[in-house]
Amino acid sequence: MAEEQLDSNSPEFQEMINNTRKPEDTPIGHQMLERMNAGHHEELANWGLEQVKGDLTTSADCLDAGCGGGANIARLLERCPEGTATGIDYSPTSVEVATQYNSEAIASGKAKVVEGDVSSLPFEDNSFDVITAFETVYFWPEMGKAMSEMFRVARPGGFMMICNEDDGEDVDDWTSQIEGYKSYDAKALCMQMLMAGFGNVHVYTKPENHWLAVVGIKPGV
Ligand SMILES: C[S@@+](CC[C@H](N)C(=O)[O-])C[C@H]1O[C@@H](n2cnc3c(N)ncnc32)[C@H](O)[C@@H]1O
Repeated sequence: MAEEQLDSNSPEFQEMINNTRKPEDTPIGHQMLERMNAGHHEELANWGLEQVKGDLTTSADCLDAGCGGGANIARLLERCPEGTATGIDYSPTSVEVATQYNSEAIASGKAKVVEGDVSSLPFEDNSFDVITAFETVYFWPEMGKAMSEMFRVARPGGFMMICNEDDGEDVDDWTSQIEGYKSYDAKALCMQMLMAGFGNVHVYTKPENHWLAVVGIKPGV
């Protein structure tokens, strides 16, 4: 996510931080999406993907939930060049920007961006080998339902990774001002994974940055 030197009581500040939850078709919404595609989101995504690089097979079909501006769709395809990458986001503006960002991969049939809510995924059961959720679960109002959906669309033997820059140990003041924001620590995310049905749950941390990645595997292979 992003911070800016604005008075935290100002309407501009509130508008900016709420655009991290659901980017709108406004200059601030587009600016937020540009920033999500670069900066420390890029570092966080690369760190998260590094933790699971041994499990990212070149032909994996990947889903990026809450895909924002779409940079992680491209990062997944770089690592899984013979596979596919699909992004889903409930913000039409995120979908538009992510579609533009991945236009070549979409034209070649390698990528897709779909508008939809994580609580009700428009995909068949057992569709994806890899599911990622970067910087987005804080905003999922029905976390249990969304996680059940992630489990449903994961293939047996496939995995899901949640990757957050907020490890629940040192929540920034400004993030707690975002409407509906919920911070999770490692234990809470492990519980969510296990309750959804994922097993072999692993936690990766970068304590100096308060980064957290939690990975679970769908049993069955
Ligand atoms: C902070 S952005 C992160 C974007 C991207 N994953 C990244 O790391 O750059 C959060 C994104 O999650 C999306 N999002 C939040 N709640 C969602 C939901 N219930 N269903 C689908 N997308 C959601 C928002 O629209 C936004 O694009």
